Amino acid sequence: MAIEFVPLPLPASADPSKFAEFGREVKGVDPSAIPSNPELFKQIHDALYKYNALLFRGATVSPEDQYALTKAFDPTSESYGHGNNKTEKTAKSILHPDLKTIPRVPQVQLIGNGTVYNHEGLAEAMLKHPSHTTFHKTRVSEEDEAKGFTRYYRWHIDAALYNLNPPKVTTLYGLNVPAGKRQTIRYDDGTGDELEVPLGTTAFVSGATMFDILPADLKSVAIRSRVKYAPHPYVWMAPSRAMSTGLGIESDGLEMPLSELPEWEESRIKVFPVVWKNPVTGGLHFQVHPCGVMELYVDPLPEGANREGALFPDGAHLTDLKEVRDLLYKMQRPAIAPSLVYPHDWRDGDFVLFHNRGVLHSVVGAFTKDQVRAFHQCNLAASDEPAGPTAEDVKKWA
Ligand SMILES: [Fe+2]
Repeated sequence: MAIEFVPLPLPASADPSKFAEFGREVKGVDPSAIPSNPELFKQIHDALYKYNALLFRGATVSPEDQYALTKAFDPTSESYGHGNNKTEKTAKSILHPDLKTIPRVPQVQLIGNGTVYNHEGLAEAMLKHPSHTTFHKTRVSEEDEAKGFTRYYRWHIDAALYNLNPPKVTTLYGLNVPAGKRQTIRYDDGTGDELEVPLGTTAFVSGATMFDILPADLKSVAIRSRVKYAPHPYVWMAPSRAMSTGLGIESDGLEMPLSELPEWEESRIKVFPVVWKNPVTGGLHFQVHPCGVMELYVDPLPEGANREGALFPDGAHLTDLKEVRDLLYKMQRPAIAPSLVYPHDWRDGDFVLFHNRGVLHSVVGAFTKDQVRAFHQCNLAASDEPAGPTAEDVKKWA
């Protein structure tokens, strides 16, 4: 059977012109067969970087096969994106309760909701779908939650952001997807924005679109900028609370002081470009995990660039947390508008492969205790840092 790449079904809320190149369902391919077939892998590899998210329906994928496929995108990577079992040790990290490791294949995590029994060597696993109510500064009232209102939990890239490099791809495999009523995401930021989504959707936005829709002055800032992440960012941010859109942290000064964090070294702190270059298409993706950022460096305009109306023409090093966050929010918020979000409608057996260095994604919604959901997730700390824009890219957009 020939391979087909079929556009993903878009909800009525989505602007189809912005999704022409985003997402494909792959037909005629068993994901387990990809790693051992170099020709097939090359096709899937290139399609992944072109479309940024690939869906295989009705898949049967063992943890070993999922690990093998994830690893094929970065053969020398080995450990889980946050480090193997490291999350168990950093008990204060906000990621801790969401992850359960498959004993046989520690790079694959069991995530979901409710209690799962006798699962791949785990006698009993209590899972909890992350809820915005424990992470955001404000919350949807219980009354409104009962009516089906919810929020994005946290827009992010899968990445430790300290010591380890952001995984190239993430695979998400829906083994058990409970059916339930659709929910409505409220942005609660004064815009009135809302988005109706399937229960427990994973929401995706394209980092390429995020860059593309910026006005010229902010494109110039983005292309010249690098962000510095906090050491142990998930521990650092744990006492703080997130924005109602799930797109970053409220600046209330609640972050853990650097002196109180687990031991850290300056040399392990991550400084990444704001814009990452797609290795296959050459496209530019705005890739910032807003929650973990501490500082922002802006390079001066390159020689010969038009200085009129330019922001930070001579460069800048922003260290005021609120200023850094406000600027990033201004650049990222437009791209999570309802018309730019792809909310995946999970079915049992859906296997999704996404370009973790090209999209942002968020957990959404709320389950009750008796709604049992089981997913396998795998991503691997990459063997290299993401590539930023070339000198030519900077010249073009600065
Ligand atoms: Fe994630």
